[in-house]
Amino acid sequence: MTIQRKSSRFSLESLALPVIQAPMAGGPSTPALAAAVSAGGGLGFLAAGYKTAAATKAEIEAVRALTGAPFGVNLFVPQPSVISAEALQQYARTLEPDAERFGVSLGEPRHDDDDWDNKVEVLLDLAPAVVSFTFDIPDAAVIAALRERGICVVATVTGRGEALQALEAGADALCVQGPEAGGHRGTFDAAGASPEVGLHGILEELRDLEVPLIAAGGITTAADSRAALAVGAVAVQAGTAFLRADEAGTKAAHRAALAAPDRFTTTEVTHSFSGRNARGLLNEFMRRHDGDAPRGYPEIHHLTTPLRAAAAAAGDPDWLNLWAGVGYRSTVEGPAASILASLRP
Ligand SMILES: Cc1cc2nc3c(=O)[nH]c(=O)nc-3n(C[C@H](O)[C@H](O)[C@H](O)COP(=O)(O)O)c2cc1C
Repeated sequence: MTIQRKSSRFSLESLALPVIQAPMAGGPSTPALAAAVSAGGGLGFLAAGYKTAAATKAEIEAVRALTGAPFGVNLFVPQPSVISAEALQQYARTLEPDAERFGVSLGEPRHDDDDWDNKVEVLLDLAPAVVSFTFDIPDAAVIAALRERGICVVATVTGRGEALQALEAGADALCVQGPEAGGHRGTFDAAGASPEVGLHGILEELRDLEVPLIAAGGITTAADSRAALAVGAVAVQAGTAFLRADEAGTKAAHRAALAAPDRFTTTEVTHSFSGRNARGLLNEFMRRHDGDAPRGYPEIHHLTTPLRAAAAAAGDPDWLNLWAGVGYRSTVEGPAASILASLRP
């Protein structure tokens, strides 16, 4: 006899607060931040990008030790190499003086898959409530296996073509990322231009699809949340707003820069740090290298890693990536719970 079990898959509509703390790789996302947001009625996220499978497992266990509330884990989908050895060497030559300034060598510009298979195994094993992907969508078989484990699968998309591909592959929900967003753009084509259509315009284009839409990009106030829900989103996903949370692992130089809007007066999209489009506070590194940087992720990410780490250690905000969305001027310091409450639509 087969017993029909009601699906226990997490549904975005079940959130007490329709506010998701964006996964933020590179330090800001911590188990404490995810747990605080989830325990507060929103949805916290871990960022597995750049982490090993073992570290990802440990972080999932750490959130579970802090809260029984549902949370998500985000993965970078590996992509093919798009850069030549010559282009890498040429860019490395232009970066040498910057590395010398901090007394470090540039990193090895390797292409890798970010421990993909092992991380998927960890997710299948530990089954967090939600798994989201960015930079592409995985094979339909991976999505099917995650769904089989009861996981709600979210695909990050930046336009209609990507949305249709994600639905075809079996995603349960779409995280719609507008060009206002801080951090990397999730465009499937790493070399592709960022669409000029803003978040609300993209949401309008996707409203007819019968799938829950999460709105991401430039959301730092309750009014921003309300406006996104009014154009069809079921929840908002905010990253920059949580960068200054007490529980976030944001580097001190990054925090200080966000709190200095007179010094860092605007954000821009750059591929000079990682080889892929990302929005951050405009600093000296971007001014010098936006003109000569080729596209090539993750090779350029690895090439600039030691330089960025040394700048962060020296507390020098001009030589590391200061990811931030267009709403950075409205961000505040404080406990994640109060930032979450300030985003309540
Ligand atoms: C510091 C930082 C790191 C990020 N890292 C990731 C990541 O690891 N995975 C991901 O899907 N999105 C990442 N994002 C993008 C967010 O998911 C989200 O799209 C963005 O933060 C929304 O825009 P906002 O920053 O204006 O709120 C990152 C954003 C920031 C600011």
